Amino acid sequence: MKVISIANQKGGCGKTTTAINLASALGVNGKRVLLVDLDPQAHASLGLNIDSPDSIYNVISRLTPRKLKLGDIIVTVEKSFDLVPSNILVGTLEQELADEIGRELKLSEILATQKDKYDYILIDCPPSLGFLTVNALRASSDVIIPVETSRFSMQGVDHLMDIVNLIRDRLNHSVESRILITMFDSRLRHSFSMLAQMKEKFNGQLIDTIVHVNVKLKESAVMGKTVYKYDKYCRGTKDYFSLAKELITSIEGSPVSAAPAVRERKLDSASAPAESAPVSVPISNRMREIVKKESSGLLTTFILEAPQAQSVYVTGSFNDWSLDESCRMKTENGFWTVQLPLKAGLYKYQFIVDGKWQEDPDNPVKERNSFGDINSLIEVKVGD
Ligand SMILES: Nc1ncnc2c1ncn2[C@@H]1O[C@H](COP(=O)(O)OP(=O)(O)O)[C@@H](O)[C@H]1O
Ligand SMILES: [Mg+2]
Repeated sequence: MKVISIANQKGGCGKTTTAINLASALGVNGKRVLLVDLDPQAHASLGLNIDSPDSIYNVISRLTPRKLKLGDIIVTVEKSFDLVPSNILVGTLEQELADEIGRELKLSEILATQKDKYDYILIDCPPSLGFLTVNALRASSDVIIPVETSRFSMQGVDHLMDIVNLIRDRLNHSVESRILITMFDSRLRHSFSMLAQMKEKFNGQLIDTIVHVNVKLKESAVMGKTVYKYDKYCRGTKDYFSLAKELITSIEGSPVSAAPAVRERKLDSASAPAESAPVSVPISNRMREIVKKESSGLLTTFILEAPQAQSVYVTGSFNDWSLDESCRMKTENGFWTVQLPLKAGLYKYQFIVDGKWQEDPDNPVKERNSFGDINSLIEVKVGD
């Protein structure tokens, strides 16, 4: 069992959205997941349309007349995804336990009772660095820090890192920190300069997957659903599936690689929603030869959002910039996709949208070419 906190004392940076939709994506990938809503504002519970009179308060509090065990309050959300709801009373625990020795271990002790039942426990933290967040971090081996690519969010990361270091030094408990870029708006130049700064500052801690701004994520929360249930083809669903796969790979070590805005899946993998990526892809003779010679068992998926386009191809250094049927993309809900079997390596590519060449707007990794326009770059890694 892996316990992962999702924390950042800054409100509105995508903690709850990440908690709900990562939990759902891990669940669809066959993992047994428990999401603990630890925010007294109960946004995760409300975002899943669960309004519960009981919460983790009834499990931790000594004063409550309605003392419960964790198992009593767990609610099933999706097939492999359960929730521990929150409510406003959770906010009173800090005061109630102010003088108690070992108060920062409360959640850790309680979650230990469920360790055989779940593969992943995610904790949606409140937007503060108090008692509840310290309890969450003390119970976790990892923390995901969602950072919105806006001006002020980098400072918050430093403060949270201070708390992580304090927990390591004072409570003798190490937590691995990873940073997740959320609400990335590829239309804004500012987003790319923030991304470059983040890469420089947090090199090695940045999660490869970037969560793009997508209105479906907001709408799904308003409708009380996970984004997968709300619209399984949308960008938000794809991004959180990519995040789930990246985490599973880095934690459990299965051979899947990832690059910004481009996702890979094993040829016979059932880990993404079957509907979101057509498995049978027309492969030209030339491609077939490459596959036979160097097949790694991986397909690389190219995605472009272009609702108005009539035809879209991807071409690049992987096929000597040729244009054949194998790189014609298919459209679904305005998203054009194609899966190509690429061997490990670094490739340059461009999309051809209605005959016009363009870079991948969702891939920040790019370079200027000798024609004066931009090639996008993708690194395909195979195995570890
Ligand atoms: N990638 C995204 N694209 C669009 N809206 C988003 C995205 N992530 C979060 N939101 C919206 O931003 C608001 C704040 O997100 P939330 O996850 O509640 O943040 P936090 O839990 O850190 O306070 C919510 O209205 C949510 O629906
Ligand atoms: Mg929240």
